Amino acid sequence: MSARRLVFPIAFAASTLSIAPVSSSGQQALSFEEYRARVEPIFIAPRGGHGPGRSPCATCHVHSGTPLKLQPLQEGEDGRVFWSEEQSRMNFEVVSRLVVPGQPERSRLLQKALAVRAGGAPFHVGGKFFESQADPEWRIMADWVRAADISPDLRAAETTPPPLDFEFFQTCVQQIFLNKREGRMECVHCHGGGTRGFARTLPEGRAFWGLEESRRNFEVLRRYVEPGYPLSSRFLTHPLAPEAGGDAFHSGGRRWFSQDDPEWQMLAAWVRGEDTRCLSY
Ligand code: HEC
Ligand code: HEC
Repeated sequence: MSARRLVFPIAFAASTLSIAPVSSSGQQALSFEEYRARVEPIFIAPRGGHGPGRSPCATCHVHSGTPLKLQPLQEGEDGRVFWSEEQSRMNFEVVSRLVVPGQPERSRLLQKALAVRAGGAPFHVGGKFFESQADPEWRIMADWVRAADISPDLRAAETTPPPLDFEFFQTCVQQIFLNKREGRMECVHCHGGGTRGFARTLPEGRAFWGLEESRRNFEVLRRYVEPGYPLSSRFLTHPLAPEAGGDAFHSGGRRWFSQDDPEWQMLAAWVRGEDTRCLSY
């Protein structure tokens, strides 16, 4: 599918949509109908150009191995592009995993293409599309997410978010940034500074971070941790192999190939706010 074809308006398959409740516990699930009618068209809307910030989302997200992996588009006789209902349902599954029901501000779908100064993610290879949270398309996505009820678990976490234990971070988690694993590069080599500098480069002759340095590392790493939710925490999904539930892409490669990896388990327990013992190395 060439990018140029995407400038044609979407054609909806004329079938009636039926509701498939995603939630089993009675709360309001993310609406598939609303998704298909209003959210999905955003992914193929023309944006008047090519490249980051200008191509339709689908130009990149149909092909590339990103967590937002959309179905290949079909083309009607009149040249319009569309997804069949079945494909939309598959897209819906994928997109649903990138949102936290009820909470746009914690949803990766909403953050990625939003300008940093408007509360967006620090980085998106695809560029920034939405200047502010008042953007009409952004609001369509936000309304869709907000209309879904937050799960009882999440609601509990809302009122009492498990604290992220700094002491454990300082003494235990930081060791992982330095520890060698066969055939892998340590985090310190690439995360020593800049916006992702959670493992600041150590001064000559020093083997570990002091208290103040640890605090700064902590402040940076927190951006990649969703307390209570290991699998929504990029710290735990970015270096985790995709087959094991990790993100599709990390320039730094993988450190964990299974969620059963004792190190991953230990970090997950820390993120969940549980008491956990440091693995000895
Ligand atoms: C020019 C190509 C390109 C375009 C256009 C593009 N993206 Fe992306 N997007 C990427 C790439 C590459 C990644 C993976 C690397 C990264 O996270 O930046 C990505 C990642 C994402 C993610 C994954 C989030 C995560 O936390 O892992 C979301 C969500 C996303 N994009 C949403 C969008 C939306 C919405 C649009 C359209 C408004 C869009 N993208 C347009 C290339 C693109
Ligand atoms: C060879 C260099 C390299 C190594 C080693 C490396 N990373 Fe990365 N990492 C990157 C780059 C570059 C990015 C930004 C692009 C991307 O998402 O892949 C990144 C992104 C990330 C992100 C997501 C940041 C964001 O903006 O969403 C996390 C979390 C992360 N790395 C964790 C780690 C951890 C933990 C380790 C050690 C186990 C590690 N990385 C090792 C290069 C590296």
